[in-house]
Order: sequence, then structure tokens, then C-alpha cells
Amino acid sequence: MKNGARTICILGLGYIGLPTACLFASQSNHVTGVDLNEDVVNSVNKGQIPLIEPGLQKLLLDALRSNNLIAQRAAGSADVFIIAVPTPLDKEIRMADLRYVRHAARMISEHLRKDNLVILESTVPPGVSENLVLPILEDSGLKAGEDFYFSHCPERAMPGNTVYEMIHNDRIIGGFDRRSSELAKELYSCFTKGSFYLTSLKLAEMVKLLENTFRDTNLALANEFAKIAEESGLNVWEAIELANKHPRVNILNPGPGVGGHCLAIDPWFLTEISSRNRMTLLAREINNSMPYHVLTLVKELLGGLKKGSVVTVLGVAYKGDVDDTREAPALKFIKLAENHGFRVKVHDPCVKKFEYALCAIEEAVLDSDCLVLITDHAQFKNIDPEQILPLVKNKNIVDTRNFLERQKWEKSGFRFLVLGDRSEHSG
Ligand SMILES: NC(=O)c1ccc[n+]([C@@H]2O[C@H](COP(=O)([O-])OP(=O)(O)OC[C@H]3O[C@@H](n4cnc5c(N)ncnc54)[C@H](O)[C@@H]3O)[C@@H](O)[C@H]2O)c1
Repeated sequence: MKNGARTICILGLGYIGLPTACLFASQSNHVTGVDLNEDVVNSVNKGQIPLIEPGLQKLLLDALRSNNLIAQRAAGSADVFIIAVPTPLDKEIRMADLRYVRHAARMISEHLRKDNLVILESTVPPGVSENLVLPILEDSGLKAGEDFYFSHCPERAMPGNTVYEMIHNDRIIGGFDRRSSELAKELYSCFTKGSFYLTSLKLAEMVKLLENTFRDTNLALANEFAKIAEESGLNVWEAIELANKHPRVNILNPGPGVGGHCLAIDPWFLTEISSRNRMTLLAREINNSMPYHVLTLVKELLGGLKKGSVVTVLGVAYKGDVDDTREAPALKFIKLAENHGFRVKVHDPCVKKFEYALCAIEEAVLDSDCLVLITDHAQFKNIDPEQILPLVKNKNIVDTRNFLERQKWEKSGFRFLVLGDRSEHSG
């Protein structure tokens, strides 16, 4: 691998690959972004970002203007290859679906040359780099450590703040050997301001899964606390806020369930390689049960199901101010509500594509018996209860994120129920 500006081929131009490609291009590297999806390739080359991400639009336009980035469907030769393809869950067997990683490795293998560096950024179960990816790359006839270098650098950036976090977060680098780790560190140093920690391939794979399993478990605990608070006539949000004043306590917020391409998936990658997974499985079970819990809150507010009751879902993205609906708890809530006889109308100002039809806010609230805030999009704060008052059939709202201004809604006559809150003021 040459020093200074490099030719970099990034496979996968999604939430992780596209910002990574733009950041490398911003540092005078010549980046080829490869995606199998023609629509993604076309929109990137036109300077249109296919996802919502602050700061990314400008980065992409700058990269295209400087001729340091081009998107295409096929891989070609380069100094560095980076794999940022999806690693979804095979839901039937609850294991990592590694077909995209396998395919990307094959695409690279055809173009691999002496002294290349290959980096796997995708999240994978421990052992996948050595057992699956390296053998495919070595089908090229080149040997890792002798002819080419290989590292696993799991990405830790968070949607909604990806560009900032890619620059500022610390990075874990697992190398096939020391030289592979050092070359990867040198590469990312061009835009990374965080620290680097070098380790082995398999440990780096494990670290990423520990991080997300820890967060998923923490959320499960918060969700359990929310249910306990409801039974005890207390407000869990206030309790968590006060508990977190302790210098060594950091409880996350409860909610309608856990979604996204990381937290709802990665813990399963640990369970597939071990039989000692009681806590991890329990956390998944608790978090997966939350959409049902939200439905019980709706039923309670409505005093049971009445014929033709309409529920309005506000937000289907898995978190606020992003357009990502992967593994989002909203989908399970909608399906459950339909199975229980409700008619469901859905509104999300950030999401363009979803399994259910999305409607404008006025249409979504029309004849509604109960609004259910699932996602904490900032725009929802601007909903004026007075304006929707004439449209709804019954004035009920469940806030699963403790996000809306209770007083404002109650003043307009809404019965307002917050997940995890049965303190005296609750509705
Ligand atoms: N999204 C996140 O917040 C996040 C955070 C940290 C880590 N990760 C990990 O990063 C990886 C990528 O996730 P993502 O959210 O960017 O996925 P994504 O679905 O947004 O994008 C992946 C892209 O890869 C393309 N693709 C699939 N196979 C390909 C191939 N062989 N060659 C070229 N392109 C191919 C797809 O068309 C898609 O556009 C996953 O392993 C994920 O777990 C994601």
C-alpha cells in the first residue's frame, strides 16, 4: 500500500459506507463507492443522498466536485478495499446472514493485488474474518500477512450523528497481524480524531457485539423498570433521571421496543456462538415484548376495543429524526394492533418507504380514537393538539417516549398516558 493519497474501493454505500466514502474522499483519496443497487449508485453520482444524515449532503457534493468519488456497481482494482455491506439477521434461525459479506469478499478477491489492505467494517460474529472472509480472499492465490493485509474495524457511529461520530469516536482495529493493524490505523488517521486501539481480529469482532449487547440489556432493564413503575404508581422517567445522578449509574430510557440494524440484531450474533446466553436472550425477549405492552396501554386508555376503533401511529423509524425503519418496533405494534381488531393509520415525516401506507398528519389523525407516539421525531413537538382536535374521534394519546408536552395536550382535553408513568398527574 502506498503512502499519502490512496485509491480506495468501498463496497456498500449505505448508512455506513457512504459517509465513510465521503470522508476518505474529503482527504484527497480517490474513492470508488460500489453498490449492487443501481438506484443507490445513480443517486450518489447525482449528489443525492438516499438517506437522512446531517452533514452528509455537503460532504457528498464536495467529494463529487473534487472528482474524488465515483459510484459504480462493479468493484475494480485499488490500494484499499473496505467492506460495509449489511449483516442482517436470518430471522428463522436467529443467526447472522452473511451472504452479503461473502459476496463482497468474492468481488474483492477478483481484484486483489500484492500489498493491498482489506478492511471489514461490517459487524460479524467472532471468527468470521478468519473462517469465512480470509479464505475467500486467499482464493485469489495471495496470502494474508505475506501478500496482502487484513483488518476488522467495526464501525460504531450512530445514525443521525454519523459524520460527527465517524470523525470523533475512538476506533477498535483488529488486525490479521501487527502490520495490518498499523496500516488500517494509518489509513483512518486521515480523518479520525478519536484514539485507536489495536487488537486481534476475533477480539475486535467480539468488542462490537459486547457494546451493542450491553446497550440492549440496559434498555431491557429500563423497560422492566418502566413496567414496575406502572404497577407501583410511579414515574420511571423521574426515577431514572435521579438514579443517574449516582456517579456510576447510567440507565438508558425505556421505550416501545428496540430497533435498528445494530441493537436488535447484534446480540443474536453472540448467542449463535455460545450456549451461555441467558442474559442476552432475556434482554431480547423483554425488548421484543414492548410493542405488546404499548398495545395494552392503548387498550387501557380506550377501555377495551370497540368496533372499528382507529389507532394513529406517530413515527415508524426506529429512533428520532432518522429514516431507518429496520427492525423498528412500530411494525410489530401495527401488526399486533391489527390482529387485535384495530384499524391503524400511520404517519412519519422522515420515512419515505414503509411496509404500510404512510399518510399526512391530517389524514392519519382523522377519526382516530387514540394517537400513539412511537418515534421521538423533533417535528412531533410541533403538533398542535388544538388543530387536530376537530379531526380526532376520541381525545386519547399514548406517549411511549415521554417526549410530548403533557400539559399542552391535557389542556386541549386529551387523556395523556406516558409509558412507565403512573404517578398522580398521569391520565
Ligand atoms: N447503520 C448503522 O448505524 C451501523 C452502525 C455501526 C455498524 N453498522 C454495520 O455496518 C454494516 C453496514 O450497515 P449499513 O447500515 O450501512 O447497511 P445498509 O443496508 O444501509 O447499506 C449497505 C449497502 O450495501 C449494498 N450491498 C450489499 N451487498 C453488496 C456487495 N456485495 N457489494 C456492494 N454493495 C453491496 C446494499 O445495496 C446497501 O446499499 C452492517 O454490518 C452493520 O451492522 C451499521
